[in-house]
Amino acid sequence: MSNDIIKVTVECAPNIALIKYWGKSDEDLILPLNGSISITLDTSVLRTRTTLTLSRTGKQLTEVYLSLNGVVEEFDDSSSSSKEKSVGSDSDGKVNKKRFFRMLERARASSQLDDPFAFNRIDIVSDNDFPLACGLASSASGFACLALCMASAFRCDRNKLDATELARLGSGSACRSCLGGFVKWSSGDERSSLATQLFGADHWPELNILAVVFQEHRKKVSSTAGMKETVRTSELLGRRVELVEQERLGQMETYLRERDFVNFAKLTMKDSNTFHAVCMDTYPPLFYLNDYSKQLIGLVNEFNRLSVNDDDLSIKVAYSFDAGPNAFLFVLDKNLNELLYLINTIYFRSSKDFASKFVLKSKSS
Ligand code: DP6
Repeated sequence: MSNDIIKVTVECAPNIALIKYWGKSDEDLILPLNGSISITLDTSVLRTRTTLTLSRTGKQLTEVYLSLNGVVEEFDDSSSSSKEKSVGSDSDGKVNKKRFFRMLERARASSQLDDPFAFNRIDIVSDNDFPLACGLASSASGFACLALCMASAFRCDRNKLDATELARLGSGSACRSCLGGFVKWSSGDERSSLATQLFGADHWPELNILAVVFQEHRKKVSSTAGMKETVRTSELLGRRVELVEQERLGQMETYLRERDFVNFAKLTMKDSNTFHAVCMDTYPPLFYLNDYSKQLIGLVNEFNRLSVNDDDLSIKVAYSFDAGPNAFLFVLDKNLNELLYLINTIYFRSSKDFASKFVLKSKSS
């Protein structure tokens, strides 16, 4: 490697929140009102791969050459302080220059390179090898890759910067994709709101995640914009933040530790419901679920009632919905085939109803 060029490649997978993040206390630093817990998917199934190259140019400006899934864009830091502008073609429109340069500034500030500002040409090539049809946004894995690349390329001092802080500056949920397995992102301040691994990816091998993707052409409100409106207008949000911080994070950690599927499933569904309740309490309301989503919630409830005893012990599947109509279902190995059969033959007989379904596992470490 020449002294004038530093090249790093990193791979990360998307994550699915079990206890959701919704609402910031600081828009610029991306500090969440409440902590969240997620599961990171397997990089061998779904993966973003990013290569970042730093080169010396001798110029004043920092020039960025970005290729996102083959869509190329060039920009520099001359306009970085102006209004937030979109960069690239991320499906959620959440990649923006302002956030990018905030990450870069932070990485340079904790760099151990002799002159981090001399490396002012930045080439980024980022590709997803998972289909958009699996219903997962690529922004979390994309920003996680970018943060890990920057931290490594700028030789950031680990005592001064945790790479999950860098990812958080790109997109909140991205900090959780820096780590595999079951991950918690804590609320806190600039330095303490970080992601940590609760349990490794092999902790619960019997747990499957099924992504059910519905046909949906309507343009949704992005998470960034939606949560801003919720913070501004919802009166229920405060109660949800309190519930999550005081009860749910601790409960979820315990249920995961004990691999207690029944309680894990109930809490996952309840937190998804509460999240969508605050979306509805936003003014004007945010409706992320559609009729298919509601039908699937019906299916899950019916499936759970099919067992011998109509009590909690009968819970065999859980659902969770992010800021969109597609569902993530959680089911143990022993009930997976039965669930797939039910979805295919009884509820969604017409294949036109859903675009695709994917069984995903979390195995990355
Ligand atoms: C519903 O992380 O995409 O998926 O921080 O503004 O970039 P920004 O938002 P983002 O929000 C994700 C919201 C969610 C819940 C979650 O992943 O916890």
